[in-house]
Amino acid sequence: MSKTIVADQPTETFREQRRLDPFTVVIFGAAGDLAHRKLFPALYNLMVDGWLTPECRILGVARRPYSNLEFQAAVHQSVTLYSRRSPDPKVLDHLVSSIRYLEADFNDAAQYATLKAILDNPEERCPNNYLFYLATPPSAYPVIARHLGQVGLARPYDTQQWIRIIVEKPFGHDLDSAVSLNGQLHQVFDESQIYRIDHYLGKETVQNILVFRFANGIFEPLWTRQYIDHVQITVAESLGVAGRGSYYDQAGALRDMVQNHMLQLVSLIAMEPPVAFEANAVRDEKVKVLRSIRPFTTRDVADWTVRAQYESGAIDGHEVPGYLDESDIASDSRTESYVALRLLIDNWRWAGVPFYLRTGKRLPKRATEIAIQFKTAPHLFFQQTETPELAPNLLTLKIQPDEGISLRFGAKVPGPAIKVRTVNMEFLYGTSFAGTPPEAYERLLLDAMFGDSTLFTRKDEVEAAWALVSSILRGWQRARGPIPTYASGSWGPEEADALIERDGFHWRRP
Ligand code: BG6
Repeated sequence: MSKTIVADQPTETFREQRRLDPFTVVIFGAAGDLAHRKLFPALYNLMVDGWLTPECRILGVARRPYSNLEFQAAVHQSVTLYSRRSPDPKVLDHLVSSIRYLEADFNDAAQYATLKAILDNPEERCPNNYLFYLATPPSAYPVIARHLGQVGLARPYDTQQWIRIIVEKPFGHDLDSAVSLNGQLHQVFDESQIYRIDHYLGKETVQNILVFRFANGIFEPLWTRQYIDHVQITVAESLGVAGRGSYYDQAGALRDMVQNHMLQLVSLIAMEPPVAFEANAVRDEKVKVLRSIRPFTTRDVADWTVRAQYESGAIDGHEVPGYLDESDIASDSRTESYVALRLLIDNWRWAGVPFYLRTGKRLPKRATEIAIQFKTAPHLFFQQTETPELAPNLLTLKIQPDEGISLRFGAKVPGPAIKVRTVNMEFLYGTSFAGTPPEAYERLLLDAMFGDSTLFTRKDEVEAAWALVSSILRGWQRARGPIPTYASGSWGPEEADALIERDGFHWRRP
């Protein structure tokens, strides 16, 4: 048996080699849910690991009236509730004492002058490298960027200073709005300063896709149309939209999950080896994949996409309401909480290999996985024996929650007859590596602090993804009438089964 390896902790030498100059983090939308559930706990853990040093300062900016002390207390509570490690009171006190709050209306130019005055005031001890984080509603992104530019907070004044801006999703709601948002950001910031977040790229198991493919010699030669039959990517959630109805009803599953997280998974699975593990080299290859995906005609949308909405049902024995009964959802909403589709990648590696994607809320369980089904052996000479239907080889990359990789193959059942049975070879992160890995937001914040944008989406990447998604949205806009439904707690609508069965396949049960 292999030994359990303790998950990597940054050593002193590693930290010495990768020295970070002190900086100030400015979080716009600091009173919101994302900041409290994800960003402050991530900053706390970065402090525990020694990346966020006591000289760093954190400035929360939001509309809500808080005094510094009240805001610090709120951060204290968020870290206590949501940190992956139970808080060490000394570190948490350090973190909290480095935080200051500015109550501001994002539309008010005068507030940005105040922000600049705080950052420039020697008594505030704010290091002059700036990491701006836009954790606000998306309508505020262009406004904030413009005002930062106007008060001179967007361009570094010498080569020693760095200024970076992290932009949360959703990045636009279709191709035109994404292009326009890119244009507005570029009027103020250079592309190298912009960090567009897709939190899936911060997940350990998602980063492992590249390691699995390119650090092992045995898989890559098989990773082509010659050997791969089809690929299924599932992102299933048991949660509904509760609490986020007003955002979700405008977005739907295609914009919320496919445009970003799922197309990122497709890119990582389908990309060519990059020339280096470096931001532009990796993203160049991902963009090529996105550009090779065949756009959807109106006919393709009708044939190869399915959208649906959940009805009431039961999950884990609990009754849950239907989509239309959730709060902040329009009573006649046609927004999809489920989508299934087939993608074709028109390039030499993947021509003819269908990629089936599905994602939905209120499915029976939370499970994200990528299943790669290989072609069957060209000739089966076990046919005259007791060999029932032999399942094709399947490689499953389990992204969450049971992180691991499994390989399915046929094995001989011990005994006098040649009887073949399908078995699984499993690797589980939890048993091979001990300790809790960093959360996606920790990893992404740290990379942005170092100026490494490998795990952030580039302008052309986000636009290529939107171009594809917009071709589907156009088809859907033309279709009238109600959309299919599925019972909460089921695996989605019958139409999605029919979609994949037309090609002779079935959805896997994760
Ligand atoms: C977010 C979506 O980007 O990802 C949510 O807006 C979704 O609707 C979430 O629930 C899923 O993330 P995770 O990390 O739980 O798979």
